[in-house]
Amino acid sequence: MEKVQLHNTINDVSETHEVEPRQLLVHMLRDSLRLTGVHIGCDTSQCGACTVLLDQQTARSCTVLAVQTEGVSIHTIEGMEGDPTVTALKQAFNELHGLQCGFCTPGMLLAARSLLLRMRDPSEAEVREALHGNLCRCTGYQNIVDAVLLAAAMLRQGVAVGEPCHE
Ligand code: FES
Ligand code: FES
Repeated sequence: MEKVQLHNTINDVSETHEVEPRQLLVHMLRDSLRLTGVHIGCDTSQCGACTVLLDQQTARSCTVLAVQTEGVSIHTIEGMEGDPTVTALKQAFNELHGLQCGFCTPGMLLAARSLLLRMRDPSEAEVREALHGNLCRCTGYQNIVDAVLLAAAMLRQGVAVGEPCHE
């Protein structure tokens, strides 16, 4: 099949790729670029494991064709080093055991980041609503929700990563 030239920005680096018109974004990211923090949990838009940011909006990369990202800025979890919200979330997930196998974690972190950028002080119900499209096979939902609430508190308090949060 004839390939198409694709120009976009991936984790803040401008790139050009040749892709098949039918190639899914998730396969381009994982198979061609080795960005394996983008997971495939279902392939049917159910689980959120393949979540990435497209122009800073969360999207399921298993439902997007690579060619649809012409000119788009794509971020995967690998490109979020130094992002203060993701950094706080990672610390909170670590402190409160918000992960077991970690398969759902990249998608959870990006979905939670999106929430915390919209809401500084979400309720538990609002966290659950924001994450309802991200499935955890290990079913550790309570710890995940608690970790997102802790990260929100850390960000509100301006707690530096590495310090305990006492809110
Ligand atoms: S792999 Fe994309 S939603 Fe499950
Ligand atoms: S921690 Fe295992 S799938 Fe969520």
